[in-house]
Amino acid sequence: MRRLLVTSALPYANGHIHLGHLVEYIQTDIWVRFHKLQGRECYYFCADDTHGTPIMIRARKEGISPEELVEKMHHHHLEDFSGFNIEFDNYYTTNSEENRLLSEEVYLSNKKAGHIRKDTVRQAYCEHDAMFLPDRFIRGCCPRCGAEDQYGDACESCSATYSPLELVKPGCALCGKKPVEKESEHHFFKLNDFESYLREWTRSGTLQEEMANKLDEWFDSGLRDWDISRDGPYFGFEIPGAPGKYFYVWLDAPIGYMASTWDYCKRNNLDFDQFWRRDDYSEVYHFIGKDILYFHTLFWPATLKGAGFRRPTAVFAHGFLTVNGQKMSKSRGTFINARDYLTYLDPEYLRYYYAAKLTSRVDDLDLSLDDFVLRVNSDLVGKVVNLASRTAGFILKRFDGKLSTPYPDDGGLHQRFVAAGDDISQLYESREFAKAMRAIMVLADEANRYVEEKAPWKLAKGKAEAPLQESCSVALNLFRILMIYLQPVLPEMAENSRNFLNLPPFSWQDVKEPLSGITIQKFSHLMNRVDPKKVAALQEASREALSPPPTASANNKRQEAKKKQNQDTADEITIDDFLKVDLRVAEIVAAQSVEGADKLLQLTLNFGETIGNRTVFAGIKSAYQPEKLLGRLTVAVVNLQPRKMKFGLSEGMVLAAGPGGEALFLLSPDSGAKPGMKIK
Ligand code: MSP
Ligand code: ZN
Repeated sequence: MRRLLVTSALPYANGHIHLGHLVEYIQTDIWVRFHKLQGRECYYFCADDTHGTPIMIRARKEGISPEELVEKMHHHHLEDFSGFNIEFDNYYTTNSEENRLLSEEVYLSNKKAGHIRKDTVRQAYCEHDAMFLPDRFIRGCCPRCGAEDQYGDACESCSATYSPLELVKPGCALCGKKPVEKESEHHFFKLNDFESYLREWTRSGTLQEEMANKLDEWFDSGLRDWDISRDGPYFGFEIPGAPGKYFYVWLDAPIGYMASTWDYCKRNNLDFDQFWRRDDYSEVYHFIGKDILYFHTLFWPATLKGAGFRRPTAVFAHGFLTVNGQKMSKSRGTFINARDYLTYLDPEYLRYYYAAKLTSRVDDLDLSLDDFVLRVNSDLVGKVVNLASRTAGFILKRFDGKLSTPYPDDGGLHQRFVAAGDDISQLYESREFAKAMRAIMVLADEANRYVEEKAPWKLAKGKAEAPLQESCSVALNLFRILMIYLQPVLPEMAENSRNFLNLPPFSWQDVKEPLSGITIQKFSHLMNRVDPKKVAALQEASREALSPPPTASANNKRQEAKKKQNQDTADEITIDDFLKVDLRVAEIVAAQSVEGADKLLQLTLNFGETIGNRTVFAGIKSAYQPEKLLGRLTVAVVNLQPRKMKFGLSEGMVLAAGPGGEALFLLSPDSGAKPGMKIK
């Protein structure tokens, strides 16, 4: 019997799961469920990817430890995944003892074999924050086009890529101060030592064609050594024998696949070494997005090889999600979080829709919301559910719930449905889910044609009982086969169906024998139609700005008007500029005067669970007594660069109107608003 170990990429612990991520987790879950339904020994392992600077900084901003942040996100991620019926055998964390031990082993074995070298690197360093700055934590003007406020690695305006040292007017993203250049010793993994090994792997026929082509390009441009160390402060594992140096997050992240396996093995009496230290015990597959190909097809197999571990059987890459033909966008309401989706819609709609679009290729996948409604309603509700709902009632009312014995003559229909199973199985295996769904819907059409022809509702009016019972029994049998074939995609609906048919858990082979003489249960509703209003509401809830960007001509007119008025207003900004400002409701949970500052109050603002508390210094002392402010709701900017003041760090700004002094009016929302709510 085949044994398979399957993984999805480990989501970063500093962000929530969105519909883009779900392309991958749903794709993997379907594949795993398919193998399990076939009776194979299959394990689905994943974990949170917890290390790195962004997580450290986010935790610092929230005023909690990275461990606390990671813990909180772990629960959140797991809830989202189980909400979509994604069922891991183990969902672990890279911040675990197993992962530390394995990372050390991978490093030390590679070092011993001569695959690690040290080198001095010059890097941007912030003297104020006392840390080396990753590219994403340096902002400045693009050296090519001059666009302001660009990241240290690439310009979003002209797409130029560069090193952060080339930025014009560079600033630390945390404190705004100009970074200096500083030298530090780094550890490098000598990727080039593995070129022939990797070339052989690429040609072994297990990689998708597009991927193999990509790898050839990389080989042609030469494999460069990989910097696997970072200087502290860094949330990660310290490198053995190198105090103050940490493994770069991408070194220990894929090792998290092994750590998750190990943890599972310990709890289930299995042998970790069998899975990862020999290559004939289990097949090993990684599902990933196309953006992390380099890590999984070059660094990962090479570090494994250098440390004497087995390599993956294959890596399966998928494309990116677009919504309505465009990149997911907050202002269009198409950047949709898993949690928000679940508030409005049934998870199995999305599972089916993704399945109906997924191929084995690396192409992007489009979620067209109109098509989503049509597709799910016509296929699942119109073709599949309908089959049962039009026939179960007669069996229940007229035949005490009993199906015909023996199974009636159906003109070979059942046999054709069984025979189609081999093709469908092959399509699942090769990850051609769209084709599998099409093949299943062809069968569903055939079953519906049968029901139309027999027209049980007409037979019910006649005297003969047998034809009515028989045609309904055939229809329910065909329905059962469809649900078995769909179970990897629609586990919940399959479960409800087998309960209503009064059957034990399905297996793929069950289809061979038709059901006869069994008694079914009362028919309960299996799936509702997708309500387009709910889709619209979900989009509305996901939208971060209410007004659409003004048209060019409206813009010109307003500029004209502004010139005439010559008012006391700031320069005009675009909606995109405005959207950069993260304004939220906050509750003032503490307020006090600041010694030595006669205009300032020190406020502690609470922004709800995710953001937590922030300290803000506000020049409102002459208008407000501190104790009167306690418990009051106000509005504040949360993504303002923290400002170091004489009295402490100010991490935001409250909004007030008026000329100042006593004539100052703190903005407050109506009652009912909750801390953390975004101002739109
Ligand atoms: N933490 C790394 C992976 C480490 S694996 C050892 C990471 N995390 S991620 O949260 O950014 O992404 C997790 C997976 O989701 C990746 O495979 C990524 O390609 C995929 N997707 C993230 N956004 C996506 C879309 N918009 N569309 C499709 N897949 C996307 O990368
Ligand atoms: Zn700084």
